[in-house]
Formats: sequence, C-alpha cells, structure tokens
Amino acid sequence: MNKYAIVLAAGKGTRMKSMREDVSKVSFPILGRPMLQWVLEGLKSLELDEIVTVVGFGGKTSEFIASPYGKVVWQYEQKGTGHAVMMAALILEDKEGLTLICCGDTPLLTDKTLSALLSAHETNHNDLTLLTAVVDDPRCYGRIIKEAGRVVRIVEQKDCTPDIDAIHEVNAGVYVFDNRELFRCLKNLTPNNAAKEYYLTDVIAMFVEEGRKVASFSIADVNETMGVNDRYQLSVAAKAMQQRINKRWMIHGVTFEDPDTAYIGPEVKLSRDSVIRPNTHILGKSWVGHENIIGPNTYLENVQIGERNKIEYSHLCNVTVENDCVLGPYFRARDGVVIHDRAFIGNFNEMKNTEFGEDSFCSHLSYLGDCSIGKNVNVGCGTIVANYDGVNKWRSEVDDNAFIGSGSTLISPVHVGEGAFVAAGSTINRDVPAHDMAIARSRQENKEGYADVLKEKACKKSK
Ligand code: UD1
Ligand code: CA
Repeated sequence: MNKYAIVLAAGKGTRMKSMREDVSKVSFPILGRPMLQWVLEGLKSLELDEIVTVVGFGGKTSEFIASPYGKVVWQYEQKGTGHAVMMAALILEDKEGLTLICCGDTPLLTDKTLSALLSAHETNHNDLTLLTAVVDDPRCYGRIIKEAGRVVRIVEQKDCTPDIDAIHEVNAGVYVFDNRELFRCLKNLTPNNAAKEYYLTDVIAMFVEEGRKVASFSIADVNETMGVNDRYQLSVAAKAMQQRINKRWMIHGVTFEDPDTAYIGPEVKLSRDSVIRPNTHILGKSWVGHENIIGPNTYLENVQIGERNKIEYSHLCNVTVENDCVLGPYFRARDGVVIHDRAFIGNFNEMKNTEFGEDSFCSHLSYLGDCSIGKNVNVGCGTIVANYDGVNKWRSEVDDNAFIGSGSTLISPVHVGEGAFVAAGSTINRDVPAHDMAIARSRQENKEGYADVLKEKACKKSK
C-alpha cells in the first residue's frame, strides 16, 4: 500500500510570544536541531512514498528545513489544522493509500512509535487510527471522547465543558487516515467552534458517523506525544531529548559525570570509555573517539576528536584533534584547525586555520592564525602570528624542531626553517633559514646607577 505523510507546520505559534515575523514556531531548536527537523527525521526512516510539509507563518525558514525531506506546500492564512491538511490536496487528494499526519511541534515522537501506529492501522484494516495518551495535565490537548470503549469524537480545550475538561486521555495530534476518505471529508469541515478554525479533529466524528472503522492507539511513553506550544514546554521537551540522548550514550559505554549539564547533539557520535564532564556541549556533526576526557565547561561543534585527549574549559568549532593531546584550560580553536598527535596547548591560546604538529607545545597566551607549525616545535608564551594586513590574510610556516621564543611576533608571510631559533621578543618579518638564530629587537643599553637618579628626580617633582 502507498504511504504518505503530511506534517503540519504552518501555525503562528502565538504562545511562543515571539516578536519576529520570520521565525516559525517549528523552527525553534532543540539541541541545535529545529523541532520540525526532529519530526521529519522520525518520518525519514519509515520509507514513505511522499512527505508533504505544510508551511505558512515564518514559512521561508520552515521551507528551508523541510525541502530536503520532500514536498512543501503553503498555507497563507492559518485557519486551523483541517485547513492546513487541505493545502496538501493538490499533491495527494486522489491517491490511493494511507496518510500519516503529524504536527511539526511534537519533536519527541519516535520512528518506533510511528511505525507501530502504521502497522496497527494496517493489521486492523482501520480507516482511521489515532494516537492517544493519558497524561497528568491534559490542558492544551484535544480530549478523546469514547462511547462503549470506542472513540467517537475529539473536543478541543477551548470547547470543553467541565466534564470533558476532566478527561485525561488526549489526542497526540498523530493520525493515520485512509487518504481518499480524508480529503473527501475535509471538504465538509466548518469552523463552528470557539476558535473559528477548521479543526482536523472534527474529521474523526465524520468518520464515525459514516460508520468507518476508527480506532485509537495508545502510547506507552506519554512524553513522546508532548506538543510544544510555549517556551516552557520547549524547555521541557529539550530536557527530555537531552535525557534520551545521554542515556543512549551511557548505555553504549560513555561516562557522564553530570548528565543534566551535558548537551549532546543528534548528529554527534561518542565512543566507549570517553568521559563527559559537567557543563559540556558537543554539537553539530561531531565525532569523539575512545577514552577522551572532555570538560568541564567545554563547547565543541563540528569536531573530530581522536583518542585519549584531554580537553577542558575550551571552545572548539570546526576542528580536528588527533590522539593523546592536552588542550586547555581556556583554549579556543576555530575554522579548520588541525591538532596532531601528542600536542600540548595550554591556557589562553587561540588558533584559527592552523595546523599544529605532533609533539609541539604552545603552553600559554598565544594567537596562531593561518599558519602551519611543524613537529616538536616550542611556541613560546605570548607568540603572535600577525596574519592580517588590513586587507589580506597571509600564511606563515614554522618547520619541525624550531623554537619560537616568548613574546615574538611573526609577521606573515614568513617561513621559519627546520631547527631554527627565534629569540624571545623578536619581531620576525623575514624568513629564518633552517638552524639559524633570528634576533630582531633593539639592543639593550644599561645606564650605570641611573635608576637611583630617576627616583631622586621624581621625588623632587612631587614636592
Ligand atoms: C492540536 C489538536 C489537538 C491535539 C494537539 C496535539 C486540532 C484542532 N487540535 O492542538 O487535538 O491534542 O494538537 O499536540 O487539530 N497548524 C497549521 N496551520 C494552522 C494551525 C496549525 O499548520 O492553521 C500546525 C501548527 O504549526 C502545529 C500543528 O498544526 O504544528 C498543531 O497546531 P496547534 O495550534 O499547536 O494545535 P494544538 O492547539 O496544539
Ligand atoms: Ca500544539
């Protein structure tokens, strides 16, 4: 049977109270991934024939998120969830098969649940199967009304009478419909309700009245159905997602000293025997090998980390670190930095677009931009690579076994040859040949006894 999905993502998200017109609710991120993308990723693994996302408010952002996953249709005026589904008619209306509908604001739903819902629908030959959950706090959800154990309709919060208000079984906003029957019934929807909207949920009663087979599928983990309508719910969903991901890595053999303050993105791969210390973010497309100790207070984004490294109090974006390195505290590296085996990079260093060689040291307070540092090089405290002339960026190279004395400035482009020695405090603007020593600072002069003379003069002035 053909299988389709419609994702509703056009709503304004009024309860988010955003002042911005260009940002849809479903583009709010959880662990760096927009809510809508979480939903679409769940659908991806179900191998559907078509995924149609309905966008509207802040739709350009939503369209950008959804287009890699399938087709996008626009709902220019947000007249309710039923009206939103109608927007997909152009693509799906006449198609034979079933259609899974879900909302872009339920990021915790798993592919496992969705595929269980689909198979329940198919095995029981239902015309409509809806996902329900029994929750402690049913406010914000449509209530499931049953007669003789069967679903007969859904009543929205705004339309609840006190006895319906007391019902705790709610509509998760996920349904599997017979596709053709769905689009036929949508034409009969009216906005006769408190919100004056075309409710998708009214289609349920229509199916029941027509004598179609309607069933509910109750979900075990109610957290999954959580809809994010305001920023408090966003934080609750983010916490649940964080716990889900961290638990998975702990079971896999990664130690988390404080899972509550470790934020691991969905596209991150961790490996066994690594330790994640408190207040650590690892986001983007990142890969962390075995036996690393990462954190505390470390932010990594799009990084490739080998094995047995120690990285603390540091901020690394778009960086590769090989094995057995010690980085930080307070190391910042960005944009294409590659750190080779056994490098030691101590406190308060910054690197950009730099290759740092095996067994090399950069122990304190340096800036290295657009350069390559060879093997076994010592970069002294306070070294600066002056890579920018106000218009262009230039590259410098320091070859293996060279020594850069503290407080030196290398004005790019320069080349310091193998085994060369740059004396502390030098300003280097010409190449240093291999095994030479460069000293580039004014010669020191000592004036005998003059310190006391100066002091005397100063005292006289202050009288
Ligand atoms: C909806 C359901 C409710 C269910 C809940 C589950 C209806 C009428 N109510 O309520 O029964 O318990 O979800 O989370 O369906 N949207 C559009 N276009 C619109 C309006 C909404 O695309 O005109 C999208 C939103 O972007 C959102 C989804 O539909 O992703 C749900 O809309 P929302 O306003 O959040 O509905 P709820 O009040 O949560
Ligand atoms: Ca909602």
